[in-house]
Amino acid sequence: MTVSKSRKPIVAGNWKMNKTVADATDLVNAIKRDLAGCKEVDVVLCPPFTALKAVSDLITETHIDLGAQNMHWEKNGAFTGEVSAEMIRELYCHYVILGHSERRAYFGETDEIVNKKTKAALEANLTPIVCVGETLDERESGRMTEVVQTQVRGSLKGLSARDLAESVIAYEPVWAIGTGKTASSEQAQEVHALIRKVIEDMADEAVAQSVRIQYGGSVKPGNAAELFGMPDIDGGLIGGAALEARSFIEIVRAAI
Ligand code: 13P
Repeated sequence: MTVSKSRKPIVAGNWKMNKTVADATDLVNAIKRDLAGCKEVDVVLCPPFTALKAVSDLITETHIDLGAQNMHWEKNGAFTGEVSAEMIRELYCHYVILGHSERRAYFGETDEIVNKKTKAALEANLTPIVCVGETLDERESGRMTEVVQTQVRGSLKGLSARDLAESVIAYEPVWAIGTGKTASSEQAQEVHALIRKVIEDMADEAVAQSVRIQYGGSVKPGNAAELFGMPDIDGGLIGGAALEARSFIEIVRAAI
């Protein structure tokens, strides 16, 4: 990286609805060969729920961490098809992705829902990776700042300074997800700085300087180093390129 930062970079693979247990086992074994001892970057794998246990067992003696892609905010009850914080915690998840734009777009998740989930995750000692980001239409009509600010404030509303500092935010412009169109490092940096300013307004400068903000959206081995080198970008949330060991390993290495 070109800029020295006090925050430890975090690179997470969001596998989305990909990988059976057999596929996940192959992928984790390949990733482990290179990254089992990686201490410079927090490396997090977020498989689908069905592969959490298998991946958890494979990474026990490594520095690689586990994350889920979603959870419900209630502790238990009649919520068919959902899982709770305690259930994923039991499988040694330390992280959970919340409010991904696909959840917001296809499953109706609002800032209010994401906020309830974020609070429930923190209460269960999970680190939330809270996703925010504007659509192309919102950017082109000049509403990017307002949209991102509203999502950050709404999703993180009512969190203590300590909880805010320990949360991870992922800035994922919707127009860059799975499209091959990455935000330029300057475009991404501008929004990361904006998010950090919002956190400063919600808490204080120390909290804003502690919170880690990942970039997500078509991150590849070829663009990762430049993005991660920006002053307010603390790693990435990786979709497509996390499904293949070689590209994921190269992206993690770009964060060192
Ligand atoms: P891609 O890296 O495939 O664009 O996906 C990004 C993403 O949505 C990660 O959560």
